[in-house]
Amino acid sequence: MMKQALIKRLLCCAAIATVCVAPVVAQQMPFINIVTGEPLDLKSGKEEGRDTPAVKQFMQTGQNPYNEDKQALAKGKDIYNTSCSGCHGHLAEGKIGPALNHGNWHYELDEDKAMFEVIFGGATRQMGPQNEFLTQDEILHTMAWVRHLYTGKGEDATWLTEEQRKNFKPYKE
Ligand code: HEC
Repeated sequence: MMKQALIKRLLCCAAIATVCVAPVVAQQMPFINIVTGEPLDLKSGKEEGRDTPAVKQFMQTGQNPYNEDKQALAKGKDIYNTSCSGCHGHLAEGKIGPALNHGNWHYELDEDKAMFEVIFGGATRQMGPQNEFLTQDEILHTMAWVRHLYTGKGEDATWLTEEQRKNFKPYKE
């Protein structure tokens, strides 16, 4: 009898723990290789810059907190000009690689999650995985700059918050 009561109590505790703890361990969205559909190993590539508040938020919500953030844009611009513009053009107008400044993408880049997947894990041809060169935090900075170069209308900028969409002005140099 004693034993049974103890087991019951333990089971009860376990049930409470599951209910209480589960929502805290927030579900991480599955990130995939955009070409093969295989899961992306987010522990691969550079070790630093994986646990900044921005990366954590992005991993859980798919929303890039650096979008339209002035300081982040300045850093993203530097990284973009060093690591990406040679192939995608100074204004992301396209060169060896496709243009990134309009809505006519090859992959479904109307979500920032997909853009992260392309940059982190690579795509085809010269678009190699950038996770060996850039930290996840740097990738988010770079993405914010790429998004800032968008020449389309704010209302179509699905990656922005509603407020940001209202205030967005198509990029002009
Ligand atoms: C050596 C040249 C090269 C470099 C450097 C490069 N890219 Fe690319 N990129 C490409 C090519 C080529 C493609 C097309 C690949 C495909 O369609 O599978 C591409 C595709 C992309 C796409 C998907 C475009 C679409 O239409 O869906 C994104 C986003 C992108 N690159 C971002 C970046 C960013 C950001 C950087 C810098 C961190 C970068 N690339 C660096 C050549 C490059």
